Amino acid sequence: MDKKTVCIVGLGYVGLPLAVLFSKTDLLTIGFDISKKRIEELKKGIDSTKQTSENDLKTSRIEFTSDETRINEAAYVVVAVPTPIDEGSEEPDLSFVESATVTIGRNLKKNAIVVYESTVYPGVTEDICVPILEKESGMKYPADFKTGYSPERVNPSDTVHTTENIVKIVSGCDEKSLDEIAKLYGKIIKAGVYRAKSIKTAEAAKVIENTQRDLNIALVNELSLIFRKMGLNTKEVIEAAGTKWNFQKYQPGLVGGHCISVDPYYLVHKSKALGHTPKLILAAREVNEHMAVHIARLVISGIKDIGKDINKAKVLVMGLSFKENINDTRNSKILHVIDELKKQGCDVHAHDPLLTEQTIRDEFRVESGDATKTKTKYDAIIVSVIHDQFKKMGISDLKKIACEKAVLMDIKSHYSTEEARRNGFIYYCL
Ligand SMILES: NC(=O)c1ccc[n+]([C@@H]2O[C@H](COP(=O)([O-])OP(=O)(O)OC[C@H]3O[C@@H](n4cnc5c(N)ncnc54)[C@H](O)[C@@H]3O)[C@@H](O)[C@H]2O)c1
Repeated sequence: MDKKTVCIVGLGYVGLPLAVLFSKTDLLTIGFDISKKRIEELKKGIDSTKQTSENDLKTSRIEFTSDETRINEAAYVVVAVPTPIDEGSEEPDLSFVESATVTIGRNLKKNAIVVYESTVYPGVTEDICVPILEKESGMKYPADFKTGYSPERVNPSDTVHTTENIVKIVSGCDEKSLDEIAKLYGKIIKAGVYRAKSIKTAEAAKVIENTQRDLNIALVNELSLIFRKMGLNTKEVIEAAGTKWNFQKYQPGLVGGHCISVDPYYLVHKSKALGHTPKLILAAREVNEHMAVHIARLVISGIKDIGKDINKAKVLVMGLSFKENINDTRNSKILHVIDELKKQGCDVHAHDPLLTEQTIRDEFRVESGDATKTKTKYDAIIVSVIHDQFKKMGISDLKKIACEKAVLMDIKSHYSTEEARRNGFIYYCL
């Protein structure tokens, strides 16, 4: 009866692995998700995000539920719901955080601590969520309940940087809550916790981690545009520069997904609201967003160079998720490459062993073409992400599914330029 309960609200890529970890401690763990379908699947041991094993789910003691009243059993409520941007305006979409907070507020137990993990801009927890919690619960803050913020830094598909192996920033609305939150995460995080000075500091820390990454990638993307004009290979230049002790080796590429290409807009929004329009951060976003069109244009010019009619050209895209070894297609920028090629008249097929044919058709609006089996000969092949399954495929395997003269666009610079050219490809990397 004395056991404390933690309730994870939102069981996606972030929330489910957290719930699994908490369920291995002395805490009773409730996993709450608004999606009944997700809850039913999890109860059967099926994780469609593929972040936890069937065994982990079946043996875990998580009580999965979509009954919101169970939140009332929890001394700790951990919130991991999505924080996307509004497509078009690129403004933060806080609707998931707000609606989850309404649900938590009306079911909140007295003296509970609500910890947000969703990526937000500084001020969301205290200025937006706390008033909702007060209104819905009818309780007074901070007398009757507390809050904290602990950003998630997990890198899905990375088996080294898993939740428990990454130092966890924790913050709380007062010293006592911070202490309790630090102890709570101390139960599951092997790498230890870092106590941030305030909730806003922790919120800002998370959002700048991804903003910094976005900027660094934008720099190498811009360099790759410059080096192309100079006839230089970006990878080779970066390798050479990387021999200096303080040079950071970033690789050019598409910046998609729901973190790096999204979070900077949260910071931009808050900054603009305070009267400063960031220049560098927005310029980086623009450079990174341009890369899809740049890639499509290179492929099109390559197809033209080999004398093929763009309207009859067949293109195969290998890898559709926004990064390797994951089935997460949210905000994957390869979609923009595909759309651009289709706009020019190309017949685009795609292969992703981690996605169903239905997903490929519905989300990317292209036919599925299995690179390992197809009899089709392609005029261009775009290798977008190097899933483990693709690592087994060498240039000679690509040659088998390519026309005599064909373009190879190697977005991740995975193949050797010389080998690709020896095999007759017009080869592009970034
Ligand atoms: N996925 C990552 O790699 C990653 C890494 C670090 C941080 N983050 C951040 O973590 C947060 C969660 O991301 P995610 O990738 O896990 O999202 P996700 O889309 O995988 O999962 C979110 C889950 O929340 C549920 N949900 C939505 N509204 C709800 C509500 N009102 N009540 C209860 N459940 C609700 C959804 O049904 C879904 O199962 C985001 O802010 C994201 O930016 C994600």
